[in-house]
Amino acid sequence: MWSIRRRLLIVFLCISPCAAVHAQGLNWNEVEPGVWRGIAGKPEAYDLIKASGATANASALSKLPSVDFPIAKEAIHTQIIDGKTYLRFPLEKGEQIYGLGLNFQTIHQRGKVLQLHVDHFGGKDNGRTHAPVPFYVSSKGYGVFINTARYINMYVGSAVRKDSETPAVPKDRNTDKSWSSRPYSDAVEILVAAEGLEFFVFTGPKPIDAIKRYNLFMGGGPLPPRWGLGFTQRVKTLSTAADVEKEVSEFEKNGYPLDFVGLEPGWQSKAYPCTFEWDKGRYPDPKTFVKTMLDKGVRINLWTNPYVSPDAPFYKNILPYTGSHTVWNGVVPDLLTPQARDILFGQMQQDQVSLGVSGYKIDEVDGYDHYLWPDVATFPSGMSAEQMRQTYGVLMQRYSTEMFRKLNKRTYGLVRASNGGANAFPYVIYDDYYNHEDFITALINSGYSGVLWTPEVRASKTPEEWLRRMQTVVFSPMAMINAWSSSTKPWSFPEVAEQVKEMALLRMQMLPYWYSEFAKYHFEGMPPFRGMSLEEGFSTGVVKVKGNTNLEENPYAEAVSKEIKDQYMAGESLLVAPLFAGQTTRQVILPKGKWYDFFTGAYVGNGEVITVTPGLNKIPVYVKDGAVIPMMQPRLHVPGAKEKTDLEIRYYGEQPGHYMLYDDDGESYNYEKGQYSFREIRVEKQRDGGIKGQIAAAQKGMPNTIGKVTFKQMTK
Ligand code: GAL
Repeated sequence: MWSIRRRLLIVFLCISPCAAVHAQGLNWNEVEPGVWRGIAGKPEAYDLIKASGATANASALSKLPSVDFPIAKEAIHTQIIDGKTYLRFPLEKGEQIYGLGLNFQTIHQRGKVLQLHVDHFGGKDNGRTHAPVPFYVSSKGYGVFINTARYINMYVGSAVRKDSETPAVPKDRNTDKSWSSRPYSDAVEILVAAEGLEFFVFTGPKPIDAIKRYNLFMGGGPLPPRWGLGFTQRVKTLSTAADVEKEVSEFEKNGYPLDFVGLEPGWQSKAYPCTFEWDKGRYPDPKTFVKTMLDKGVRINLWTNPYVSPDAPFYKNILPYTGSHTVWNGVVPDLLTPQARDILFGQMQQDQVSLGVSGYKIDEVDGYDHYLWPDVATFPSGMSAEQMRQTYGVLMQRYSTEMFRKLNKRTYGLVRASNGGANAFPYVIYDDYYNHEDFITALINSGYSGVLWTPEVRASKTPEEWLRRMQTVVFSPMAMINAWSSSTKPWSFPEVAEQVKEMALLRMQMLPYWYSEFAKYHFEGMPPFRGMSLEEGFSTGVVKVKGNTNLEENPYAEAVSKEIKDQYMAGESLLVAPLFAGQTTRQVILPKGKWYDFFTGAYVGNGEVITVTPGLNKIPVYVKDGAVIPMMQPRLHVPGAKEKTDLEIRYYGEQPGHYMLYDDDGESYNYEKGQYSFREIRVEKQRDGGIKGQIAAAQKGMPNTIGKVTFKQMTK
């Protein structure tokens, strides 16, 4: 017999259409501390987490503060409509939404209509991008992840329901100047073409905590090998082994750092489609070539796309395990079949990785539609073309990383498509677009979405632009010149060659800092490059958005305070405020607390907007009070696994300084077995105005790459 309560509930469900919607079997389950799983209908078997194979770092998650479910559960609705799953999350007045993938022009996502769809960025933030990650973080301190490998339609605070609880008042356009074409909306609405959906809510309490939980839930960020954080140059297409050797010796001779070189199309016998074997003419002895480079401290990275040429040695073998359509006449390996994986990665392993090749640049896995299989394509695994497209970049990252893992070697490469769940893979996204400002906005957005992005430098019209671009790429996940078509070198503009060298060497000097910050990405989920909204004490106040009257006149204007997309946080303590070609002066918003100039140590301000005119040679970089920045001597290649490096630990301001310096062998996966240490650094100001610094002793039995340590007081 049904209980009275249950019968009453059924009556209630029948008379209340709203309740009937969320009565569709939406249940919540706390799967890790602060990570809630919601299920609507019957989710599909394949999703982003399955594609990536991501597993949570449960022990790191358990160290984050426990927080109650952040939204009223009854305000989250789900319904199956027309064979699709509809999901709705509430939005409050003043709430802002960040994330939803690698956007290039906007940080604030509230008010957007997006279709999250893997694609090459086409000049407009509409959801079609290299990493359309279905994760958003709210300024109210929680995150939402939609675990599907389908395209996703998102109405992010853009649509208005007639039963809205916080409706905007209708206005008369004829007479009322404050009429808006985009009335206030109080929900994020999501539609996915599947009869069920799994999704997650990540608690805060702060937005940064929700991001950390999201990253940790996917296994944490990648820990690149040390050399990955050095400097890299990609040489012109069709370069020969002799050309590369010559270029590498020019770097050495001219005193520019270089840790890995990228070979672009031309190392393979045929490309577009690819043969996955060395070209015997340009690379007659690849084994000796790779070894010669390694002996000089320079690793080799190889460009490829995954589309297999009829001339590839394994073409016939892989053919049965490829999709129905070709890309540039190359067959598309169905990476969801173990056979295709074994054949493709077997070839790469045997022909390249076993020679000491350090990694790949995986091109053309994103789109532009003409350059990919269409949605009507079929694959032997039975996976749909759509799901394949959403996850192909993820699968390439996953299985190529495995080749290196088998050898207990870390890799660090490039990829043009990614998605949610790929957070832990050691790949940096890049593209063909080339707008410096938008590259910085993308860098900021990468931190909201659990991906890495490089504002790569390719060419420039003027020495000024060249230097400005170089100044930012050294404050990014991959300091790279991609000269595949331009043939540029760091010294290509003699007017600024010395300044560029200084920046490239600064990158090397800062290696202990970058490496520790990536370790925090891996172990704590803290993104190394982040937007200002995540920074304690940051506020822009309510700034009216010019040219967007609908928002300007919106009664809930606090939701649209000005986007800050041209300054960002790099690691724990640095605020980077780039200048772009043509600019000589700019404003910088300093969060609350005292800030200091990174280069001079001078005090610059506290919770205010400053205007700076730094000159061409300088990129404005500021440091928090009490910041501790571990640096090493400038050098041309990162230190080897067993080498000891002297540190100069810089200290800024007045507050007691504290830093956790990460150390391991820099190359292997032994850190996963506990072979690493975080060494605590403390610095305090003394009565006499000087400083006293201490670093914890190296732990017995752990890798120790730290030599002599000195402390430098930057603020006098
Ligand atoms: C493009 C890629 C470039 C370069 C080029 C070589 O697709 O985005 O970075 O690798 O191919 O042909």
